Amino acid sequence: MQRTKVADLLRSNDIGKTFTVKGWVRTRRGNKHVNFVALNDGSGINNLQVVVDMEQFDEALVRRITTGAAVSVDGELQESQGAGQNVELLAKNIGILGDSDPDKYPLQPKKHSLEFLREIAHLRFRTNTFGAIARVRHAMIFAVHEFFNKRGFYNIHTPIITASDAEGAGEMFQVTTLDMDKPPRNEEGKIDYSKDFFGKPTNLTVSGQLEGELAALAMSEIYTFGPTFRAENSNTSRHLSEFWMIEPEMAFYELKENMDLAEEFLKYLLQYALNNCMDDLKFLSQRQQQEEKGKKEADRSMELIEKLKFVLENDFVRLTYTEAIDILENSKPNKKNKFQYPVKGFGTDLQSEHERYLVEKHFKKPVILTDYPKEIKAFYMKLNDDNNTVRAMDVLFPQIGEIIGGSQREESYEKLTARMKEMDIPEEEMWWFLDTRRFGSVPHSGFGLGFERMMLFVTGMTNIRDVIPFPRAPKSAEF
Ligand code: 4AD
Ligand code: MG
Repeated sequence: MQRTKVADLLRSNDIGKTFTVKGWVRTRRGNKHVNFVALNDGSGINNLQVVVDMEQFDEALVRRITTGAAVSVDGELQESQGAGQNVELLAKNIGILGDSDPDKYPLQPKKHSLEFLREIAHLRFRTNTFGAIARVRHAMIFAVHEFFNKRGFYNIHTPIITASDAEGAGEMFQVTTLDMDKPPRNEEGKIDYSKDFFGKPTNLTVSGQLEGELAALAMSEIYTFGPTFRAENSNTSRHLSEFWMIEPEMAFYELKENMDLAEEFLKYLLQYALNNCMDDLKFLSQRQQQEEKGKKEADRSMELIEKLKFVLENDFVRLTYTEAIDILENSKPNKKNKFQYPVKGFGTDLQSEHERYLVEKHFKKPVILTDYPKEIKAFYMKLNDDNNTVRAMDVLFPQIGEIIGGSQREESYEKLTARMKEMDIPEEEMWWFLDTRRFGSVPHSGFGLGFERMMLFVTGMTNIRDVIPFPRAPKSAEF
């Protein structure tokens, strides 16, 4: 008989009909007359209750229905007597597909800490929390493509192995096939990369933007959605060494249109989650509230679903970096020396504590900061007439800080090459990028959304390692 998914069965009202379900046992409880098995196959947060009449089944078989075991059940759908579900399945046939020794299975039917679950990431999909996160993650990926497809943007695959450092921050993982024990050397004793696989040093990309710009200056509106890699030694709850980034790039957009698109995009994703992931969001909301039980009222988060709606319903505040510095300098925590990094006027690189102060305490809304000092931003951003600031925009979210970084791009060949000289970026290696400024250059803009930062916001999780299935971070690349 054809398998029916648990989520579909729970929505069904075909009482009296026979169905086959397959899945993993979460719990089994009961007495010598009747047993109840909670079965989950990943199709939703809710388990199917399988009712086992002990007179109908061999006790030895029932004993093998342990937490973690995989089973197949044929049974009759009936209205549930118990609370918590509308329907349940009265078992007619039970097959054990895969046993699971309950003494050795790491997931016990009790609450495990997120830290422990990170150590068994190969099994954590089988918990309520990580099942919910995986489903929401899928929905968000789908929504990203839907948003851009609806607006006529083309999805472009940009390279993962690259010879250029798009952000110029030098935080790259090298890709090589040279023998690290005895690499070939040139006359000066330096490693001879002409003998390496690509004939020159290469790295994993930190961003698809530069190649995205090439496509935008022909296709008008494009977006990338790919893995990016950063070898920054940031052991924080908001940084990964491998993360996924969505980077739209649009010809003929100036900073204002770029901000409008970013705001519309973020709201679209939140609305999509509310429309399509309500069961999982409700579960994640309860999880968060439980987690925060011990906290003081003032330190607790806004309820998850309310928080998503709140962001949806309010315009983001837009102001310049200079205005933000003014607010921060005169803020209570700065005056009382409460910031770990004091704000010292124009030029201060904003830390997430500052970003969060602006969003959570001062404006109490998402914020878009623009026009940052050129010194703290990448070489490709368009210089303002003041010769001092660039047309950058960072979108700041509660709990997260920076969720999007973007800018209008420098379209002038002269200004761009001058800036590259100042920043010691070799022109010869970027000839292809500069060609777009030599032939038919136009104003254009784009931004990058850190997908896992968005996932943190939507799920209410607090550690970025919990919103990607297999996190990569300094000294951590298991699974
Ligand atoms: O601000 P970033 O570095 O901007 C860029 O890479 C540009 N090329 C984007 C563009 O204009 N096309 O990174 C963009 C976003 C950040 O706002 C943040 O959300 C996320 O990527 N991000 C990280 N997420 C997880 N772990 C890290 N180590 C991250 N670094 C950046
Ligand atoms: Mg940034």
